[in-house]
Amino acid sequence: MRWLVTGGLGFIGSNFIRLVLRERPGVRLVNLDAMTYAGNPANLRDVEGDPRYAFVRGDVCDPQTVRDAIGSGVDAIVNFAAETHVDRSILDPAAFLRTDILGTHTLLEAVRELCVPRFLQVSTDEVYGDVPDGESTETDPLCPRSPYSASKAGGDLQVLAYRATFGAPVLVTRGSNTYGPYQYPEKLIPLFVTNLIEDRPVPVYGDGRQIRDWLHVEDHARGILHVLERGELGNVYNIGGGNPRHNLEITQRLVEGCGRSMTTHVRHVEDRPGHDRRYAIATAKARALGWEPRVDFENGLRATIDWYKANGAWWRPLKSGEFLDYYKRQYAHR
Ligand code: DAU
Repeated sequence: MRWLVTGGLGFIGSNFIRLVLRERPGVRLVNLDAMTYAGNPANLRDVEGDPRYAFVRGDVCDPQTVRDAIGSGVDAIVNFAAETHVDRSILDPAAFLRTDILGTHTLLEAVRELCVPRFLQVSTDEVYGDVPDGESTETDPLCPRSPYSASKAGGDLQVLAYRATFGAPVLVTRGSNTYGPYQYPEKLIPLFVTNLIEDRPVPVYGDGRQIRDWLHVEDHARGILHVLERGELGNVYNIGGGNPRHNLEITQRLVEGCGRSMTTHVRHVEDRPGHDRRYAIATAKARALGWEPRVDFENGLRATIDWYKANGAWWRPLKSGEFLDYYKRQYAHR
């Protein structure tokens, strides 16, 4: 078996690659990644020498690059390539439309042209929009409210349209908020942990009562693998951790885990525009395939804090240059 993974140098993609190399000895992987700001070769340093792993630097929006990466053929494509940070999508929406919609379209065209037998689109629970109560199921209408989630929804809709129109062999997973090792330090958990380790304050948006459902990256990667191998073509599968928490509760755990105090280290800052209050997804469909999250949230969060404490050599270089410019644009006026 030979699979093409796109965006495999990112957070979830790199964890997926490590999982597959560890647990699927019969699979060879090609990783196509453009190495934009969050595509970090250090995320996969430990597998670089593995003969079953090959890396190609390139853009999923370029048809020839995609054809070349597929080469003589692949048994599956798993698309992680995406712009993923909501706050950046508010500052610069165009990059999101390009990668998340055009990139998906380019891959779908390659699936058609080269008869790739399986294509899995890694998507997000944010496409359902704000969920004041209850849980989103896979057939719910999409109601994205940020340029990021609207771009991801555009990608999902292209994938499903290729199924209806061309019979393309597609699957979609919609994951909830993911945490764990190797997450770029712009997202809530790694940003806050690394700020706290550096003895800096953390910026909580608005009242901090927004709710996210937390999923360990290992469970997310395992869920994607499960759907890839056992999902029914043409279907969407929600992958959620079942750990709904207020941002302030997460903040408190991180503050305590880093030995700091809420009074000195937490700043409530101006809210994110269009900030969704709550996400919640029903996961019965993925569970019916035999998947379930394994990582206990309290243990997973503690292990994640410890990982960032032990891996300053990984994240400290990231919090420089482009990151500092972004941090200023994003937070200075708040
Ligand atoms: O739900 C899945 C999604 O989770 C993924 O599709 C996205 O790619 C991923 O970025 C994440 O989106 P969120 O916007 O929920 O993640 P983020 O870590 O940016 O924010 C989590 C919550 O914390 C959200 O309510 C905003 C809040 N927040 C975030 C940052 C970065 C703050 O209060 N302060 C911050 O500085």
